[in-house]
Amino acid sequence: MERRDALKVAALAVLSTTVASAYDEKLIVNKQAMGIKDPTNPTELELKHSPEITIGAVDKSGFALVEVNIGQKGVIHPSVENHWIYEITLLGDEQKIATVTLEPKTSRGYLATHVDTKTIKTLTAISRCNLHGYYTSSINVS
Ligand SMILES: [Fe+2]
Repeated sequence: MERRDALKVAALAVLSTTVASAYDEKLIVNKQAMGIKDPTNPTELELKHSPEITIGAVDKSGFALVEVNIGQKGVIHPSVENHWIYEITLLGDEQKIATVTLEPKTSRGYLATHVDTKTIKTLTAISRCNLHGYYTSSINVS
């Protein structure tokens, strides 16, 4: 390895140690499963925490744009210093497709990726709030 390559490796090692989460793990105080108690009449708190999954157009390679917003019916979850969505996971037929980790204040609950939906029957998203636990939503893929 030449000196230049060694310096690049050292610089990447320093960078990787500085990319750790900015938030304090102690701020995550609730890891319990939550849910909508009455689906015919969800509360604002339940809407605010429930993932909304949308499937967009399919591209030339056969992948559909799948977006997950946290908050349904326009009730968007906040992202402030001590209350935010810290993680979203997308599953296809119970297999992990993607996970995003989010920082308070600078990002809010959103995940997007391209998915080969041809063989998937159900998409599920899990939203994790540091104060209010986790909420799960699923949609059928047709
Ligand atoms: Fe919350």
